[in-house]
Amino acid sequence: MVTFEEVSKIYSDGTKAVDSLDLHVQKGECVVFIGPSGCGKTTSLKMINRLEEISSGKILINGKDIRESNAVKLRRNIGYVIQETGLMPHLTVAENIAMVLHLHKWDKPRIYRRVNELLEMAGLDPDTFKHRLPADMSGGQRQRIGVLRALAVEPDVVLMDEPFGALDPISREHLQGELLELQEKLHKTIIFVTHDIDEALKLGDRIVLMRGGKVEQVGTPEELKNSPKTAFVRDFIGEDQLSKISPDASISPLIEAAPLTVQPRMPAAEVLELMEEAGYETAQVVNRRGGWSGMVILNEVKKIARRNGPVDDAIRLNRKLRLEDATIRDAAQMLADRELPIPIIDGSNKLLGLITAAGVARLTIHRLTRSAPPTTAPEEKSEQKSERGVESV
Ligand SMILES: Nc1ncnc2c1ncn2[C@@H]1O[C@H](COP(=O)(O)OP(=O)(O)OP(=O)(O)O)[C@@H](O)[C@H]1O
Ligand SMILES: [Mg+2]
Repeated sequence: MVTFEEVSKIYSDGTKAVDSLDLHVQKGECVVFIGPSGCGKTTSLKMINRLEEISSGKILINGKDIRESNAVKLRRNIGYVIQETGLMPHLTVAENIAMVLHLHKWDKPRIYRRVNELLEMAGLDPDTFKHRLPADMSGGQRQRIGVLRALAVEPDVVLMDEPFGALDPISREHLQGELLELQEKLHKTIIFVTHDIDEALKLGDRIVLMRGGKVEQVGTPEELKNSPKTAFVRDFIGEDQLSKISPDASISPLIEAAPLTVQPRMPAAEVLELMEEAGYETAQVVNRRGGWSGMVILNEVKKIARRNGPVDDAIRLNRKLRLEDATIRDAAQMLADRELPIPIIDGSNKLLGLITAAGVARLTIHRLTRSAPPTTAPEEKSEQKSERGVESV
């Protein structure tokens, strides 16, 4: 249906936005482009309807080079939805949708029927909404109209550039669901751009993960999740999913390995030495079967060591969370009281790992910066990971 052959785009200022893109999108398929800001998603999309001209390579639609068609005619047969809907503010909903139908020289009765049909398809009562102006509707309703307008003439291909990006999470989920339902009926060929990995995993038959103008991996959602080709793919999927976690979610994604575990009845002096050597402020006391006996803190281990006691004498049992019933909010509250790591245990008292203030801070930092997903090189990332244990105390 849509084929990219070695397509590159170099803007006039020398920016190489897309670099040798090869991709074949099948009829009826929904392909989602995702990747960090500036990786070339919008440019790839705009080359399909010739809002941007290709610098080298070619794009074929139904086997025909798009440069052989007149750009205006080409665009009329390609639906296009953008984040700001592109609705005309002074035209009513019906007029906005009818506009594209007029371009296709539809007659008035046919336009009337089609507008009603489209509104009903999206669950918007035609009598209520036909005569509204875009400003008198919610963001979600406006965006639905944008989608309907793109589908109005039953185009072969629909391009969507972050169509739900400006909506609140609930409206966004609704519209995603509606798009999936529509797609089940209409089987359009959709090329969809998003920042949101959950959206990509939900809507895409295949996902194209881009980085710096190049394709990092193309695959089904399962392929990307289960067999990421590179550390970048793994991190992109992992970190973005992390940023979606609600405070009421399970703490499991935040659990890190405990960097120092010691056995019960070890002399406190020995434990002290281990802790001071590695610079840890806490250690976990774990028996041979992995059962958690408690946590010890440096200052208290020091006191017991002075009188040659066993580490057990310094043990504290009150600071812990059980995986099954703790939320991220619980962990954050506990860390707000005192920044020491929190041991996490399971139902049979086995130590699963720790939650640290540094781990929660990473989550927060990622949330705050998630409009621009991190582009840190994978090598730098793995370095950070290996330091986690040290950072955590
Ligand atoms: N008209 C232009 N002139 C010069 N450079 C441009 C132009 N449009 C985009 N670029 C550059 O091309 C690169 C790709 O831009 P593009 O808009 O395709 O990214 P994107 O993946 O859609 O990003 P975002 O997720 O932020 O929308 C960026 O470096 C951008 O600055
Ligand atoms: Mg873009």
